[in-house]
Amino acid sequence: QQNLYQEAYRPQFHFSPPEKWMNDPNGLVYNQGVYHLFYQYYPEDIVWGPMHWGHAISKDMVHWENKPIALFPDEHGYIFSGSAVVDTDNSSGFGRLDNPPLVAIFTYHKAEGAEEGRNDFQTQGIAYSLDNGDTWVKYEGNPVIRNEGIKDFRDPKVFWNDKTNNWTMLLVAGDHLQIWQSPDLKDWDKVSEFGKDQGAHGGVWECPDLFPLKVEGTDLEKWVLLISINPGAPNGGSGTQYFIGDFDGKTFTSDQKEHKWIDWGTDNYAGVTYNNVPNNDRIFIGWMSNWAYAQETPTEKWRSAMTLPTKLTLRQVNGAIELFNYPLDSVDKIRNLGAQENISVDPQSEKSLTFDHFNSSEVKFKTSSRAFSLDFQNSLGENLSLILDAENLQFVLDRSQSGKVSFDDDFIKNVQTMPVPNLPRGEYEVRIIMDWSSVEVFINGGQYVMTAQIFPNEYYKTLVISNPEDNKLEMEKFTISPIKS
Ligand code: FRU
Repeated sequence: QQNLYQEAYRPQFHFSPPEKWMNDPNGLVYNQGVYHLFYQYYPEDIVWGPMHWGHAISKDMVHWENKPIALFPDEHGYIFSGSAVVDTDNSSGFGRLDNPPLVAIFTYHKAEGAEEGRNDFQTQGIAYSLDNGDTWVKYEGNPVIRNEGIKDFRDPKVFWNDKTNNWTMLLVAGDHLQIWQSPDLKDWDKVSEFGKDQGAHGGVWECPDLFPLKVEGTDLEKWVLLISINPGAPNGGSGTQYFIGDFDGKTFTSDQKEHKWIDWGTDNYAGVTYNNVPNNDRIFIGWMSNWAYAQETPTEKWRSAMTLPTKLTLRQVNGAIELFNYPLDSVDKIRNLGAQENISVDPQSEKSLTFDHFNSSEVKFKTSSRAFSLDFQNSLGENLSLILDAENLQFVLDRSQSGKVSFDDDFIKNVQTMPVPNLPRGEYEVRIIMDWSSVEVFINGGQYVMTAQIFPNEYYKTLVISNPEDNKLEMEKFTISPIKS
């Protein structure tokens, strides 16, 4: 279905809605053989409006089948972001043990309340499906969590908690996280809070997620908390920070001092992970846009796409634990692996490669260089520039000349930078995945990640590799691989 999408800028292997406005991924859950992707959706326009949950399903998260709209606004309000769980024991009583319900937990946003200047206009509601997400029934007892006057009170993420044998809900309340619990998804009690004086607070906290991961190669388990903030991201607008810590079943604690970001680029927001994945992998999908300019991007039929599905892991780097974020193997399967070559570029010189078009491909290589630049160019003189800057130990993404950029000042306000303090001393991988209107950069297997939208007026067909150093630049196993879903 995706590859019928042929409009200018239409993603070829990232999820985008058939038409109209989309923002956050919602209700990410695996059930009965399919991965569900619900999403914030406004079916009447290509800007944000009264929110619905759009719906698509997939077996591999790179080929998607569009489904009818799952949840519509009702008397309690618009349907804002949230999550979905498989209620295996039928704790809610909505289904039967031989047909456990899929339960969606979301925020109701009452627009009238917001307009009247009240603070209690966001509450939490639930709905269930007994046919694996095709049709939904809203619970008659909604809302299940009322609001006692917290202005931004939303984005419930629910998961089954083995430590306490109940359902745990993460909710954001303006500048902090709240943790609630319930035996049946209907009656909820607040048990703890986190974050008023920790982490980045440049904007309101949104879309929380919390999950355990083993630190690779050890028996140590740590919990990772994701919090999206808008604004306050390192390169402007909205972005997603994470905390590494511990969770005793009720309370999350972390002694992390510095801010950490799951992606340093401008276009990966409101991302959360799948519930109920068979092998317990932590699979993440984010919204590939930024509130600073999301409603102005130059597409006409639809607006915005999701990031590739990525797997999150914890690894030890120089004595510290870091979150790695790297595309799922299913992305490898839609790529037609190009010929491998070793490329070397003389000191202070450059090399030019041409290709059918880079806007639906992966460029991958290994190097131990600490300085290079990659310029993707077209015949109009447009140029997307990716630079590893040895002097400042940072990676730079400059899209200021990349194509259409003037639709919103914020789009090119900053050259995007990402500190890479723990870049390995030896060889590491650089992987760049480009679709018709996006670029995702994964350095050293997802240790450093940058995602950005781009709108070139013509495909990039030339890649200029420059070596600013006094030594040869060696790139091993360099491949350019076309991707098509
Ligand atoms: C994040 C967000 C959520 C909210 C939704 C509304 O992008 O602001 O906090 O639930 O979008 O569409």
